Amino acid sequence: MSVHKEIKRVTTHVLSEMKLQGEKISMLTSYDYSMAKLVDQAGIDVILVGDSAANVMAGHETTLPITLDQMIYHGKSVVKAVTRCLVVVDMPFGTYQGNSLEALNSAIKIMKITHADAVKLEGGSEVIESVQRILSAGIPVMGHLGLMPQSINRYGTYVVRAKEEDEANKLLKDAKLLEEAGCFAIVLEKIPASLGTKVAKELKIPIIGIGAGGGVDGQVLVIHDMLGITQEFSPRFLRRYHNLAAEIKGAVGHYIKDVKSKDFPNEKEQYE
Ligand code: KIV
Repeated sequence: MSVHKEIKRVTTHVLSEMKLQGEKISMLTSYDYSMAKLVDQAGIDVILVGDSAANVMAGHETTLPITLDQMIYHGKSVVKAVTRCLVVVDMPFGTYQGNSLEALNSAIKIMKITHADAVKLEGGSEVIESVQRILSAGIPVMGHLGLMPQSINRYGTYVVRAKEEDEANKLLKDAKLLEEAGCFAIVLEKIPASLGTKVAKELKIPIIGIGAGGGVDGQVLVIHDMLGITQEFSPRFLRRYHNLAAEIKGAVGHYIKDVKSKDFPNEKEQYE
């Protein structure tokens, strides 16, 4: 029997149990009440309130501009909608790097106002003090290594990371550091599948991949990408499960036609 089917509420402990039993963890992003409600009802294990909200909700080119208050707004909306899945809120750029007290205060603000279950932040050794300080307050932390979109200005490109031995070794070292510090899971983004498998094998905590191959313990995608709402973003790792952009445009086009032709509203759609 799968852990997934039996439990009423997903916790960080449930995710460890899934890894132990070889059950893959499903994770998707959501940023608002209505979408989160559907995603939770469909049975997802984890919702990530990703800072990709900066891209898909606000139209920014990178994730850097989103603020702590904006992430809190999205986090609160999502938490209100769910009854079963674990909710993780991304800590936005500039709220945890370089100053562990600021990191702690940012994480506490997220937890206090949103009532989420955990926070996620990007980086390994560079942010380990922040990770430790947040964990010391009893706040569960999910790590994020590999392609780290908040560091895009340092790399200048979204190409596959850790292909070279040095970078792969650093990634593995950072993953172990995050595990030792007490992180409950790590996201690995856009790295060779062989490295994803190695990290998942060498660590006890769940490793969730996005473009990290099938050998990790779970998968995450941005919901707007997998539903086909976003059309311009088409990396190799993305599987589109729907073409919602076409459906939405079709429905809106139909509505416009009905309004213009006076077909809508009809007699049954108005009051006496
Ligand atoms: O912000 C986000 O959506 C993420 C995922 C890509 C893992 O961090």
